[in-house]
Amino acid sequence: MWYPAGGMLIERATTADYVAIVDSLADYWGGRDMRAQHHAMFIHEFGDTALVLRDDDGGIAAYLFGFVAPTGVGYIHLVGVRADSRRDGLGRRLYGEFETLARRRGATALKAITAPTNHASIAFHRALGMSADEVADYSGTGHSRIVFSRQLSE
Ligand SMILES: CC(C)(COP(=O)(O)OP(=O)(O)OC[C@H]1O[C@@H](n2cnc3c(N)ncnc32)[C@H](O)[C@@H]1OP(=O)(O)O)[C@@H](O)C(=O)NCCC(=O)NCCS
Repeated sequence: MWYPAGGMLIERATTADYVAIVDSLADYWGGRDMRAQHHAMFIHEFGDTALVLRDDDGGIAAYLFGFVAPTGVGYIHLVGVRADSRRDGLGRRLYGEFETLARRRGATALKAITAPTNHASIAFHRALGMSADEVADYSGTGHSRIVFSRQLSE
């Protein structure tokens, strides 16, 4: 299914997209080792809320992997925008599409987390109207996280 989005197309990610993304993680994450966070369940089990934004040549300019938890939380696990495509509204568009999909699945809130050192992510999520709270030991002893959330109104 295709979703028009300001000149680029948002599509549900395919398994081929997933492979292309994990084969070129540095394009989206630089030197950070993010392979473990790209678990295959995000395409095989949660593929109906895995999105890609394609550019004209079919390349993946940006992607989002998420799911709706049984608690009603629409959880954005990963959002990655290729380094050459940032600050052009792509991350915002992906979040908008995910919110639409999550609402259809009964979500009442959106949530995401990031490391306290990821200042771009913190600025991005705040710009999207999410609250940002540092939670000590969120990911284990000594591993605090910034927890973003936003309630979804009816
Ligand atoms: C964070 C990230 C997803 C933002 O995506 P993006 O497509 O560049 O963001 P958008 O263009 O939609 O930005 C929306 C708003 O967020 C804010 N914003 C985004 N990136 C920002 C940055 N680096 N610094 C400050 N504010 C930023 C701005 O207010 C922006 O609006 P503006 O451009 O009109 O000022 C992107 O930088 C990225 O992929 N980073 C590497 C991967 C990562 O850390 N992902 C998040 C953790 S899961």
